[in-house]
Amino acid sequence: MNLNGKWALVTGASSGFGVEFAKLLAARSANLVLVARRSGPMEELADNLRRTNGVQVMVEPADLSVPGAAAELKNKIDRLGIDVDILVNNAGRGLYGEFLDQPLDTITAMVNLNLMAVTELTHLFAQQMINRRTGHILLIASLLGYQATPGYAVYGATKAYVLVLGEALHAELKKHNVNLTVLSPGPTETSFAHVAGQRNTLVVRALMMEPGAVASLGVNAMLQRKSSIVAGLMNKLVVLSDRLTPRVLQSLIMQKVLSG
Ligand SMILES: NC(=O)c1ccc[n+]([C@@H]2O[C@H](COP(=O)([O-])OP(=O)(O)OC[C@H]3O[C@@H](n4cnc5c(N)ncnc54)[C@H](OP(=O)(O)O)[C@@H]3O)[C@@H](O)[C@H]2O)c1
Repeated sequence: MNLNGKWALVTGASSGFGVEFAKLLAARSANLVLVARRSGPMEELADNLRRTNGVQVMVEPADLSVPGAAAELKNKIDRLGIDVDILVNNAGRGLYGEFLDQPLDTITAMVNLNLMAVTELTHLFAQQMINRRTGHILLIASLLGYQATPGYAVYGATKAYVLVLGEALHAELKKHNVNLTVLSPGPTETSFAHVAGQRNTLVVRALMMEPGAVASLGVNAMLQRKSSIVAGLMNKLVVLSDRLTPRVLQSLIMQKVLSG
């Protein structure tokens, strides 16, 4: 599908999946608004995409963990006169370790980013898409959203929220001709694990995928108007085995997988 003349907003566009989403959408001729805290990598990416794909690219630095940041971003985009056709709600972070060892302000910032900002951006942009009876939204959940995972208690819970929110909204928005797709990646070669403070064990390394391949599965699923997709066969098998395993055992297995 050619996205010529359409505008895509990609959050978390300074590294990892966000960079890959931006490249894939620009390759389909979409104009882009890139959002993350670090403007340097986004400016570099923007130059690259303008040169390679001849698309318009705006860089909007923002800390989406700050309450009110989503509304402020929406206002800025409105002032630029841009109608967002595709929202890629990708910015997020993990935090690995025992819940009580984690600083409460870091937990709160992660919940604001992974959950509140995603909810607010989806609400603000879906409203506009419904009025125009067109649009796509991509939410990034995780394999860790499918079961409780000791060590990733809060992060996993934020991603379970994104997964359940997204699958419900897919059904609600469909009748307005607006599509929402949830992408659930497993372990992927980005800075995620480093930022989360998680070391990659043998099993995690065996499941590891390339960010470009995962992002491509997500964009294709979104353009095909799918409700939800788990990236990769191995990750699909993990989700399937979850369906067949008692919940308490799922948690024990995930704990073992992550602690090595
Ligand atoms: N990689 C994996 O194994 C994996 C698996 C499942 C799900 N995911 C999900 O995939 C998404 C992207 O992560 P990634 O793997 O690409 O990790 P990443 O390389 O660390 O990228 C995270 C992106 O989010 C942005 N971000 C972080 N905090 C932010 C804030 N407060 N405000 C605005 N932007 C912020 C970062 O930019 P700045 O630092 O410049 O702000 C960066 O662009 C996340 O939602 C993550 O939960 C990742």
